Parts: sequence; C-alpha cells; structure tokens
Amino acid sequence: MIKVKKLSKLYGYTTAVSDLTFTVEKGEILGFLGPNGAGKTTTMRMLTCFLPPTSGTAEIFGFDILQDSMEIRRLIGYLPEKAPSYHDLAVRDYLEFSANMKGVRKDKIKGAIDYVVEKCGLSGEFKQTIGNLSKGYQQRVGIAQAIINDPEFLILDEPTIGLDPKQVVGIRKLIKSIGSERTVLLSSHILPEVSQICDRIIIISKGRLIAVDSPENLRQKLKRSTFTIIKLRKPDGSVSITDLLYRIEGVSDVRETTNSDSTIKLTVKSKPEMDIREEISSKIIKNGFGLLEIYNEELTLEDIFVQLVTMED
Ligand SMILES: Nc1ncnc2c1ncn2[C@@H]1O[C@H](COP(=O)(O)OP(=O)(O)O)[C@@H](O)[C@H]1O
Ligand SMILES: [Mg+2]
Repeated sequence: MIKVKKLSKLYGYTTAVSDLTFTVEKGEILGFLGPNGAGKTTTMRMLTCFLPPTSGTAEIFGFDILQDSMEIRRLIGYLPEKAPSYHDLAVRDYLEFSANMKGVRKDKIKGAIDYVVEKCGLSGEFKQTIGNLSKGYQQRVGIAQAIINDPEFLILDEPTIGLDPKQVVGIRKLIKSIGSERTVLLSSHILPEVSQICDRIIIISKGRLIAVDSPENLRQKLKRSTFTIIKLRKPDGSVSITDLLYRIEGVSDVRETTNSDSTIKLTVKSKPEMDIREEISSKIIKNGFGLLEIYNEELTLEDIFVQLVTMED
C-alpha cells in the first residue's frame, strides 16, 4: 500500500503541491486527475524519489521516500511526462540498457525483455530504431521500459498525451492489462480517460486535493445537488439578487457572472428533493428583474470535474 501524508512542494514562492494526503490500495488503478499545473507531475516526481518534498512524507510498501530511495526505485516503474528520448537506439538495445540500469539480474534480462515486448505488443518493432516508430509505439516502448523490472507499483504520467485517437485506445487497453497485475497511479487531465481505466479517482487542483472516490460514487455524490441556471436582466439600482436567492430554503451556493450582452447568469446550487424554480422566479419578478431563462441542470461527470475544479476559486 502507498501512503502519502501531508506532502507539499514549493518552488520558490510557488506552491506546486499543498498538504496532499491519500492512499493507493494494493492492486488498484488510481487516477490522478487535474488540469494543467495542478501538481500531478510534481507529486509523481516526489513519489519516484526524483524530487525531495518541501514537507510531508510518503511510504511505498513500507519504504520511506526520503530514507529508502534505493529500495523504492527497485519497487517502482515510472513513465515520466516527457520521456527521455533514445531515438537512435533500437527498441531491443534500449530495453536491454533499461534492464541493466534498473539492476535486473543478468540471467533474467532476456526473459524480462521477452515479457515486456510481448505484453506491450512490440514484437514487430523489436529491431527498429525508436526514432522511426510512431508516437503510439514510442509510448509503448516507454511503458515497456517502465515495467522491465517487474515493478509492484507503476507510475504513469499522462501516458496518452499527444497520441492520436486510435493510439489512445491501444494505450488505455495496455494500461488496463498491465494494471490487472500491479498497483498503478495514472495521471491525466482527461476525465473520461480516468473514469474508463481507474478504480478510484483523486481530483487535484492548484496542488490541493479536491475529491477522492470511485467514478460512480463521484457521480452520485454530485448528483445530490441540483444546479438551477438563471438568465436575467438587471434593472438600474436593483437589490443584490445573490442575497435574495440565498434566503430561499435549501440553497447552498449562488454564483453570479455577467454575460457579454450585460445580462446576468446565476448558478444556484440546492438539494435535489426540492424544486425551487417557482420560488426563484417569483422572487426575481417581484424585485423588478427581467427573467429571461430558468432551468435545472443534470450534471455529467465532465461538468462535475469543471465544477469541482472551479469551486476552488
Ligand atoms: N521546476 C519547476 N520550477 C518552478 N515551478 C515549477 C516547476 N515544475 C512545476 N512548476 C510549477 O508547479 C505547478 C505544478 O506543476 P506540475 O506538477 O507540472 O503540474 P501538472 O503535472 O499537474 O500539470 C505549476 O504551477 C508549475 O508551473
Ligand atoms: Mg504534468
């Protein structure tokens, strides 16, 4: 099991990761979801002992990232975001080099290479130069390199970024198959990707943990709120519409934005068991606002993601 405790990383005055606490259960595929700049790569670099944390700790199968970096390096496989390019090497030579670098025993190297080549679907590319392969196959080589030491814990940083849709499907399938035998932490900024591949999802934004749950529970959790969207025109010298709406029973959040045509858009969060649309519309009209639109919104997981991430502001 992997235990991350209050992990933080500051770059100068920039807080890249802030007080992150979570666990990865043995055997699960955990999705690490967040927009660009959320702190995914920084967290992964700390877990792989490439970068010391500013504070906090992490334990990987009982080993501490600060005390036991040699043991941890043996236990993990890592596909970095920007994999170092060995474009001039043949796939075979690169994998042999990786196996040596990772301390695979000499008498086990051939078996290890045969295994990863088969697993990653590289038999046809075995003798080719890496630079001549498509991006999808280069990523397969990266994954093959990451599992050559038969790691218990595999860390994949945005493994499908920059691939075409067909390659994405292939790589996702490969990750699922590899993940059936080990513990995987996979980062992505694409929600459908993590909900397809992962058992659980951790959402982070601006270095902070926002939610941890199964894709299904995450969907259920947010379903427990209804969002009413309202578009209205504001008369001169009107009262604050936000204050008015907060007074309605069951309303837990009100967001106001001004549209480009100077109409107002409001997003009102409430409990789903009560439909507050009539109460809202009568309040709006009584106070002299022009009601242009009102409807309740069902959230998709994609919306939930945006909602969670923007709620940070
Ligand atoms: N080496 C670095 N020096 C300074 N700031 C960095 C460095 N690496 C990342 N950052 C900053 O830390 C934050 C988190 O970045 P990163 O971990 O790469 O996020 P993600 O992988 O989720 O896109 C960003 O604001 C980024 O600009
Ligand atoms: Mg990154």
